[in-house]
Amino acid sequence: MKVGILTGGGDCPGLNAVIRAVVRKGILHYGYAVLGIYEGWKGLLDGGRIMPLALRDASGILHRGGTILRSSRTNPLKVENGIEQIKNNLQKNEIDTIIAVGGEDTLGVAARLSSEGCNLVGVPKTIDNDVMGTERTFGFDTAINIAMEAIDRVHTTAEAHNRVMVVEVMGRHAGWIATEAGIAGGADIILIPEKTMYVDQVCEMIRRRHSRGKDFSIVVVAEGAKLRMNRENEKELQILRDRKLDAFGHVRLGGIGNELADLIEEATGYETRAIILGYIQRGGSPSAFDRVLATRFGVHAIDYVHRGEFGNMVALQGSKIVPYPLADVVDKIKTIDQELIDTAEVFFG
Ligand code: F6P
Repeated sequence: MKVGILTGGGDCPGLNAVIRAVVRKGILHYGYAVLGIYEGWKGLLDGGRIMPLALRDASGILHRGGTILRSSRTNPLKVENGIEQIKNNLQKNEIDTIIAVGGEDTLGVAARLSSEGCNLVGVPKTIDNDVMGTERTFGFDTAINIAMEAIDRVHTTAEAHNRVMVVEVMGRHAGWIATEAGIAGGADIILIPEKTMYVDQVCEMIRRRHSRGKDFSIVVVAEGAKLRMNRENEKELQILRDRKLDAFGHVRLGGIGNELADLIEEATGYETRAIILGYIQRGGSPSAFDRVLATRFGVHAIDYVHRGEFGNMVALQGSKIVPYPLADVVDKIKTIDQELIDTAEVFFG
């Protein structure tokens, strides 16, 4: 049996732990050959770099961020005869099964290929934690710890200068990072894509804090949050970095923190600064939680391959890893539950 593994979409800490687990259990336990497909779906589409992974290739990588297989946002569904090209390259390389490690976009392609008869198992990853069907994606824990530490650091400088500090974190469709890092870091206000907030509400909360003798405030905002000036103003603002779209049709977000900081300073008169955490949240070594989760996902993924449980993604539900149909992941986003929003809001203002 030849198993191909690829990592697609934005990278996140823990990808190498999955690769290591698949290679180790695949070779030593099941006697499979494992092939590394480089740069996500791009590698299968153009048949570029597809190379055997030996035990030594996957050794010493557990603690490393990024992915030894590289990644891309290539979308074969947008390429003429993309699916046919992939099928041909699978045949040419005698790959029986693919393990696709990715977020909603990569897994969406995996679901389509699976419906076209390819043997496929998915592994959910993303720092955004927004993949349907799994309580956690690996990468998220590392990201919220990085963001929490940043918020802690911003706290002391905010306090020293009596400033409002706006911390922008990632989170295109869902506010998991903003909410959990915000709760952990003691944010005074958190803005997320799931709930439109009014700028005048934000300013009112800051004024309230200041009237209680708190001379500084920390606002955490997810890059995908939408702003409205006030209840009367219907216009919703989403701040884009530029107008370019990626292969999956996503706009590039970023910059809402700066915009919000300007609006707050203008309306309240309090000195306000913004910081965009950006790719720092995705880089570097995975946390212990992410190493363990990614390792469990990798081990279970190769077990599903062995048992022929194709068309599934490995998912964390409660404390167990369970199969979740890839078809049910497509075009869905796991947004935050109201309970978490309510908990965060107790500490607003
Ligand atoms: O990994 C998901 C994510 O972090 C989103 O929150 C963000 O919008 C996106 O990746 C940006 O990644 P890139 O610039 O690599 O496309």
